[in-house]
Amino acid sequence: MRKVLNFNAGWVFSEGFDAEAANTLRDGETVRLPHTAVELPFNYFDETCYQRAFTYQKLIAKEESFSGKRVTLVFDAAMADSVVYLNGTEIAAHKDGYTPFEVEIGSHLQDGDNLLTVKIDGSENPEIPPFGNVIDYLTFAGIYRDVWLKITTPVAIDNVKIETPDALSARKTVTADVFLTEATAGTLRAKLSDADGKEIATAEAAASGTKTRLSIEGLEGLELWDIDSPTLYTLSVTLQTEAGTDAFSSRFGFRTVSFAADGFRLNDRPLKLRGLNRHQSWPYLGYAMGRRGQEKDADILKYELACNVARTSHYPQSKYFLDRCDEIGLLVFEEIPGWQHIGGEAWKLESIENVRRMITRDWNHPSIIIWGVRINESADDHDFYAETNRLAHELDATRQTGGVRCIENSELLEDVYTMNDFVLGDEEQPGRNEARRSTRSQKQVTGLSKNVPYMITEYNGHMYPTKRFDQESRQAEHVTRHLQMMNAIAGDPDIVGGTGWCMFDYNTHHDFGSGDRICYHGVMDMHREPKFAAYAYASQGDPDKGVVLQPVTFWARGERNIGGVLPLIILTNCDYIELAVGDSAPKRVEPDRTTYPHLAHPPVILDTTNVSAEEFGDWGRQWFDGTLTGYIEGKPVKTMKLSGNPIPTTMEIAPDATALRAGEKDCVRVILRALDQCGNVMAFFDEPVSLSLEGDGRIVGPEITSFRGGSAGLYVEAGDAAGTLTLTARCPAFADGTVTFTIS
Ligand code: GAL
Repeated sequence: MRKVLNFNAGWVFSEGFDAEAANTLRDGETVRLPHTAVELPFNYFDETCYQRAFTYQKLIAKEESFSGKRVTLVFDAAMADSVVYLNGTEIAAHKDGYTPFEVEIGSHLQDGDNLLTVKIDGSENPEIPPFGNVIDYLTFAGIYRDVWLKITTPVAIDNVKIETPDALSARKTVTADVFLTEATAGTLRAKLSDADGKEIATAEAAASGTKTRLSIEGLEGLELWDIDSPTLYTLSVTLQTEAGTDAFSSRFGFRTVSFAADGFRLNDRPLKLRGLNRHQSWPYLGYAMGRRGQEKDADILKYELACNVARTSHYPQSKYFLDRCDEIGLLVFEEIPGWQHIGGEAWKLESIENVRRMITRDWNHPSIIIWGVRINESADDHDFYAETNRLAHELDATRQTGGVRCIENSELLEDVYTMNDFVLGDEEQPGRNEARRSTRSQKQVTGLSKNVPYMITEYNGHMYPTKRFDQESRQAEHVTRHLQMMNAIAGDPDIVGGTGWCMFDYNTHHDFGSGDRICYHGVMDMHREPKFAAYAYASQGDPDKGVVLQPVTFWARGERNIGGVLPLIILTNCDYIELAVGDSAPKRVEPDRTTYPHLAHPPVILDTTNVSAEEFGDWGRQWFDGTLTGYIEGKPVKTMKLSGNPIPTTMEIAPDATALRAGEKDCVRVILRALDQCGNVMAFFDEPVSLSLEGDGRIVGPEITSFRGGSAGLYVEAGDAAGTLTLTARCPAFADGTVTFTIS
């Protein structure tokens, strides 16, 4: 049977590269993958510092067990322009920084130790997508995903494409196109099992050529994959040849997806898509986040932000993110690498190959509903995009294509017209907000005489950058824009849904962002701490899955111009709320269904039409505590106390998990929050905090940091040894805080 062994440990990392390097083990730092070549500060860095060559080396001993086998290395991704040498000889090269590549090493291995050298180059080589012009994100550098040592029979299963042609029938079929590394005589067997590993059915066929179809029909009693019940099955395929047995397995789901002019359907059921764009970057680590952080982002999108879809802007993302989307039922729009710029012929050929690599890597994920086969926001290019679309359809006849653009009347070669519509706010002037447009009509955008499947793939973002610690009134406007867009999209039957820009703030080039190398476009900050706008999304979720009650205020008399907290937006999925100021009688206020008729859960808005300006209003009176209560079916379901006199009371330490895995650089987020006596984050608390860690592990990022707007984020990375790790945080305003992690 095949062995796929983790090959992440024991790489020697060094700066630069020269011809000598391929022959000699250089001095360097011993590192484990995933690895970022340069750990950046949080902001205000020089992004050219990683835009150069780096060397990763590792000794690999030829083992007895390799004899008569096919031995390869699988790089899940390396940024970028990788060249692989074995004992000084170049054996492979792969330009793209987002897709995997497999390198045959067995035939090159000599007895004893062999020197494996990988040169990667973080410079923005204009021959490789997305490079060649400016880009609003960073690509970082390094072997930032896993590497695997794969040992198989000489002829092996290269890939399997699983399809479910009649997923909605009571009696279902599953087909598997099995691709072999080369033609061979042999027998292919497929076994279908459920999530518990219980065998359901099998099929068998003789291998023929390099591609053979296996089919299992008449399957009864199987469940569909859906967003609320993401049932997964596993198809395991074996290839029996004279040289032994090879095996490959993949999860998949039974489901159908379709984009039509009248909407998106999952399993034939109309579903309005509501989601956000996601980059794959983290503070300090850049792209080099392992499994835990990737999975967490999917969980945040689904469970904290109540999204049903995410767009992997602007490249294929980690398989751990996609696997998690499969497991939890989060739909995905995946696209090829690129940003506005189309390069020359060689560049385009590389981009076309990216379509192939993305689709053949990811075709079995039920969560993926569409392939993005245009360079994000690029100009029309008939021949190029005719080819990306042709190839996508040839490789995968079950999914439609989209191509994200921002220009009107662009040529529709895709199945879905996917548009970044930034019209909201582009004509904003004081006093005109009520009349402002949210979206263009699809016919205005497409210039076509009939409706086509149409999705809004970005909105907001650079039109209204907002920091988590920005002034309350700015944040109220930020929230309003997200609500307004969600409402407009929900109410327009010609739009299948939308993904807002974007999930969280991200490091970027100096050409973009706020000058500090951060684009503050997220509904969360870089550590995925929510801004108020995050609750605009969260509040659209079903209260059964979590009651949301979030006023868009820091609850102070003098934070806003002139003073007071009106108009006060309360983001909630409750039926109505009551708000009491001090000891006065609570005011009951209903959601604003007039302004937001299409939202499942419109916000409650308090202003002088429904509450007295005296209590909530402007300058020059005493200020009091507030008590906010949300009601569902007449019963109080959530209460929030708002302190009118906040003082630092508790430092909350919130790790995403405390049970970590040894020996895989398991990296967990920890958020520190400065809380007042009501347990609310103190929005302008910016004091320093020092961090220390005992045990085998490390703190990613600085050990002295500061709260930013009441919270501080950090990552703790487990080392190789089992045991415990204790993190201590010291901030003068609070008692010391500790958290203990167990590593096993
Ligand atoms: C879009 C682009 C995104 C991001 C966004 C900011 O034009 O596709 O990557 O830059 O603007 O709003």
